[in-house]
Amino acid sequence: MDQTDHPYPGAAARRVRDVIERLLSEGAAVARSDGTTHDLFPIAVSVAEGEALRGWVVREGATRTVEIGLAYAVSALHVCEGLLENGDPEARHVAIDPLQRTYFSGCGLQFLEEAGVAGMVEHHAEESRIALPRFVAEARGFDLAFVDGNHHFDGVFVDLCYLGRLVRPGGVVFLDDYQLPAVERAASFFLRNLGWELEEVSEWDELHRWAVLRTSTAPDTRPFGYYVDF
Ligand SMILES: C[S@@+](CC[C@H](N)C(=O)[O-])C[C@H]1O[C@@H](n2cnc3c(N)ncnc32)[C@H](O)[C@@H]1O
Repeated sequence: MDQTDHPYPGAAARRVRDVIERLLSEGAAVARSDGTTHDLFPIAVSVAEGEALRGWVVREGATRTVEIGLAYAVSALHVCEGLLENGDPEARHVAIDPLQRTYFSGCGLQFLEEAGVAGMVEHHAEESRIALPRFVAEARGFDLAFVDGNHHFDGVFVDLCYLGRLVRPGGVVFLDDYQLPAVERAASFFLRNLGWELEEVSEWDELHRWAVLRTSTAPDTRPFGYYVDF
């Protein structure tokens, strides 16, 4: 079922909310694909992070979003809830995760189906460094990106390089695990050299924090000699 099947406005978003509440309160789920039980946390985003993510989707009026790291889809459910609130029936979320059907036993896709939003989510079972350049070649574009995949410096750096081309000028990149030195350093390149702005850095929860970056609206006209240490 997709959001257009609902007889009255808000019903689709409420169905997503019901699944989010159930996952948060139970903290674990059984995969339909293989019967395995999965503890969702701390892999999945926290309540606070999910709410912040949904808030940014709504504030930006996003209709096209992309996520690196679907896993248990708690982040994706919050993104979809925000997209539904924004009210565009054509809104779509793209989620990249090479391990969804193996390590995660398809749980994320299962929860999206239970929430009634499987039809608005496009899953790519491959690494972001493979999928994102293809999206560039296909001239795809997004209003907002959520990054929660490979947290090595080079993984995040490559993701941000491609997202700089895929997210619209002045769009938002919501970056998880900003407490990791590698993640903060990768973001720092874009802030110090490419004119991106730091919109928000969250408070610490027990384990971590996130940051929200805004991409530059100015074209990249740096001469080759231009470099700011980061
Ligand atoms: C911390 S989990 C994401 C949790 C998810 N956001 C949620 O709320 O349930 C990290 C995810 O990144 C995925 N991942 C790791 N390396 C990746 C890569 N290179 N490209 C895309 N996804 C990757 C993993 O398979 C895992 O599902």
